[in-house]
Amino acid sequence: MTAPVSKDQHLSLVLQQLAPDPQRRNCLWIVDENLPVESVMTLPGAASITAITNRYDIHAALQARGVDSRLSDFDFSQLGEFQRIVYRLSKEKLVAHHCINQAIRHLSEDGELVVIGGKQDGVKSIAKNAAQTYGQKNNTRKTGSSYLATFTRPVTMDEDQRLPCNDYGQLRQVQHKGVSFHSKPGVFGWEKVDRGSELLISVLPTIQRYMKSVNSVLDLGCGWGYLMLATKDWSVQTRCATDNNIAAIDAAARNFAEHGLTVDCIADDCASNLRGRFDLILCNPPFHQGFAVSDALTDKFLAAASRLSRRSTRAIFVVNQFVPLPKHADKYFSQCRLLLAEDGFCVYELRP
Ligand SMILES: C[S@@+](CC[C@H](N)C(=O)[O-])C[C@H]1O[C@@H](n2cnc3c(N)ncnc32)[C@H](O)[C@@H]1O
Repeated sequence: MTAPVSKDQHLSLVLQQLAPDPQRRNCLWIVDENLPVESVMTLPGAASITAITNRYDIHAALQARGVDSRLSDFDFSQLGEFQRIVYRLSKEKLVAHHCINQAIRHLSEDGELVVIGGKQDGVKSIAKNAAQTYGQKNNTRKTGSSYLATFTRPVTMDEDQRLPCNDYGQLRQVQHKGVSFHSKPGVFGWEKVDRGSELLISVLPTIQRYMKSVNSVLDLGCGWGYLMLATKDWSVQTRCATDNNIAAIDAAARNFAEHGLTVDCIADDCASNLRGRFDLILCNPPFHQGFAVSDALTDKFLAAASRLSRRSTRAIFVVNQFVPLPKHADKYFSQCRLLLAEDGFCVYELRP
């Protein structure tokens, strides 16, 4: 009996069929965390593709394999035309709409855009809307557990003929729970203050009181910068905020500048290029890798926090209550103390 094919394996099989071929050498792949990098790397002819990604870790992995990878918040303006563009749909609809709008405009005359996704990713309705917007026949078809839709370059296209993407590239002012900040689609929880992060910052006055002096702070996985902003009135010498997502780094930099805070904003994979140690590390680690829940991410963030700690460091983590942080933290920290449990979140203090 043959083993069942997992969703990711199936996606890889579909992607294999889209590998660059001699007729369509000029290929662009739009890659975010929903497309396992390995499935791109193992493609025959992968080195001949161009890739665009908003994630630092993916960019680094693709570059290491010789792929011409462009790291940006899906800014296509520097890209030319392609005979084939492959896009595994993003989780957030506005990101998906933006990428499809851009991709259609970067097709050569004989080019095709191939959009792939699972049923629960909303691929069927997005493909239907895209076909309608660009005056094409909806040819979505099911292959295994994935859906595939192809689009060609429309003969004519109005400037305003687009899937709604809420002016994707622009940072904008957002108000939530009395907090005013800049953010944009594509950033984690871009229109809100995360409840877990809100609970994390509620313990900071106590932490500040007993730590006495805090000279350096790291916001690990900073998003639009909410956690670091909570320290804006502290007298701190060194501040650093890092995230894997380019859109997050842009938004955080704007928010820090607005508050007159000097912060090193660094696009990086879990601070892997950071050296030095921090007195205080603030973190609300992700537990999703795209559409999938990932335990490995919790470990990765704990390992990074441990590497950037000295004996006196305090790392404050907030996680969903079902994430067994103490179990994971055991490998990296000598103490893990629960500070607060509320609304389905737990805030922990970790000591090396
Ligand atoms: C739960 S969000 C928290 C965001 C922000 N700190 C807040 O409180 O609103 C987790 C953040 O981790 C980032 N992230 C995911 N994987 C990462 C990685 N490998 N390295 C750095 N940041 C990552 C995400 O982009 C996201 O901004």
